[in-house]
Amino acid sequence: MNFKELMETRYTTKHYDATRKVDDQTLRAILEAVRLTPTSVNSQPYHFYVLTGEAKQKLRDGIKDFNQKRYDAASHAIVISCKTKIDEEHLKAVLEAEIKDGRLPNEDLVAAQDKSRHFFSNLHIENGDFEAWTCKQAYIAFATLVYAAHDVGVDSTALEGIDYDKVNEIMGFKDKGEACALVVSLGYRAQDDSNTLDKRPKSRLSVEQLVSFID
Ligand SMILES: Cc1cc2nc3c(=O)[nH]c(=O)nc-3n(C[C@H](O)[C@H](O)[C@H](O)COP(=O)(O)O)c2cc1C
Repeated sequence: MNFKELMETRYTTKHYDATRKVDDQTLRAILEAVRLTPTSVNSQPYHFYVLTGEAKQKLRDGIKDFNQKRYDAASHAIVISCKTKIDEEHLKAVLEAEIKDGRLPNEDLVAAQDKSRHFFSNLHIENGDFEAWTCKQAYIAFATLVYAAHDVGVDSTALEGIDYDKVNEIMGFKDKGEACALVVSLGYRAQDDSNTLDKRPKSRLSVEQLVSFID
C-alpha cells in the first residue's frame, strides 16, 4: 500500500477479535518503524511499554469504562510515556547512538550536538513546558505507530480516554520522571467491528477548508 492508501484505509478499531494475537515478529516490525520517528533535536524523549497478560490486566483500572471492552479484547496495549524532566542518561544514550550510526564524525560535532540538545531541553524547562514538549514528540511516535501497524495488517485504537493519574500511578511513572502521553491498543478487528469503513466512511475536512495558501 502506498502512503495515501494507508491514510485512507486505517481507521480506529472499536471491537477486537479477542482470539487473535499479534505475533512477536509483526510487533517487532511495527516497533522498528516507530523507532525511526523524527523528534525535535532527535531527542526521542519517550518510552514505549508493551503490555500483555498480567501487566495489561493491571493497567485496566486506568482505562475509562467506555474504552475497557476494546482494551480487553485487544492483543497488546502500548503505553507511550514522555519525559517529565531532563534525563542525562537518556541524552547520553541518544548521543552515543548518533556517534555509532555515523551521524557525528568528529569531536566538534559531538560537542555541538550535545550542547544543542541540552540548550533546547533547558529552554523548555525555563519556559515551563518541558513535559508538553516531550509529549508532543510522543504524539508523533503515536502516529508512526498506528500507520506502521496498519501497514502490517494490525488494527489499533488511540486511547486518550484513560485516567492519566491512575495510569501514571500503576506504571510507577512519577519515580521514573515520566508521564503517560497516551495508550494505544493493537490487535485485529472483530468481524462485526462497528467502525469499519463500509459502515463508517472516513470523514475529514477538505484541503480547501484545512489549508490556506499564502504568498
Ligand atoms: C489522540 C487520539 C485519542 C483518541 N482517543 C480515543 C479513545 O479514547 N477511544 C476511542 O474509541 N477512540 C479514540 N480516538 C479515535 C478518534 O475518535 C478517531 O481517530 C477519529 O474519530 C477519526 O476516526 P478514524 O481514526 O477512524 O479515522 C482517539 C484518536 C486520537 C487521534
